[in-house]
Amino acid sequence: MSQVTRIEHPLIEHHLCRVRDQATRPSEFRAAVHRLSMLLGVYATQDLTTEPVGLTTPICETVGQQLAVRIGLVPILRAGLGMVEPMLQLLPDAAVWHLGLYRNEETAEPVGYYDKLPLQNAPNVALVLDPMLATGGSVDLVIRRLMQWGVDEIRVLSVIASQAGVDRVGRDFPDVKVYVAAIDPTLNDQSYIVPGLGDAGDRIFDTPT
Ligand code: PRP
Ligand code: URA
Repeated sequence: MSQVTRIEHPLIEHHLCRVRDQATRPSEFRAAVHRLSMLLGVYATQDLTTEPVGLTTPICETVGQQLAVRIGLVPILRAGLGMVEPMLQLLPDAAVWHLGLYRNEETAEPVGYYDKLPLQNAPNVALVLDPMLATGGSVDLVIRRLMQWGVDEIRVLSVIASQAGVDRVGRDFPDVKVYVAAIDPTLNDQSYIVPGLGDAGDRIFDTPT
């Protein structure tokens, strides 16, 4: 069964306007991606496992709950880098594992160019970070790589997904939870999301091509 959650929240709708608007400058675009990532991050972590921990306040002894899982953030280069800092603010003890992919412009198929995952030491939970989930090809490749590595649980966080992209991930990986701020109806003939926001990496890094 598909586990796709579109987060509904007025702040998400507000900041989505900023990333969609072609007049938004790169600094504002990065700030909006940052805010959207934090909002997604709160929802995507709401059922992580915790364990009790005893502590002493200035007043008395008490018991709190702390995270009981090792978390790895997995940004997909390049655009996923824009989501790392906000997620580290929420999860300061998470490791960050980079995977580099770009889409072949003719075929829209992902091409891997960076992968230094070790043989062992896979986190319990991997949070895959990429603002765009278009055809789903890039996320598909990353999920397969993380499964091969031995990650127990994989969650994907994207700002904008296409309907076809979330359908693909839900069909092929029914155990993977996907959290998105928007699901747009279509892809154009270059496999860009419509209405979308254009090229996320180029807008984050101010590298129009
Ligand atoms: C973009 C985006 C995703 C991918 C999504 O990356 O950041 O990684 O495309 O498309 P898909 O779902 O059809 O695979 P891009 O290839 O533009 O590379 P970049 O981040 O380096 O700009
Ligand atoms: N990658 C992007 O950056 N934008 C899209 O719409 C599709 C893939």
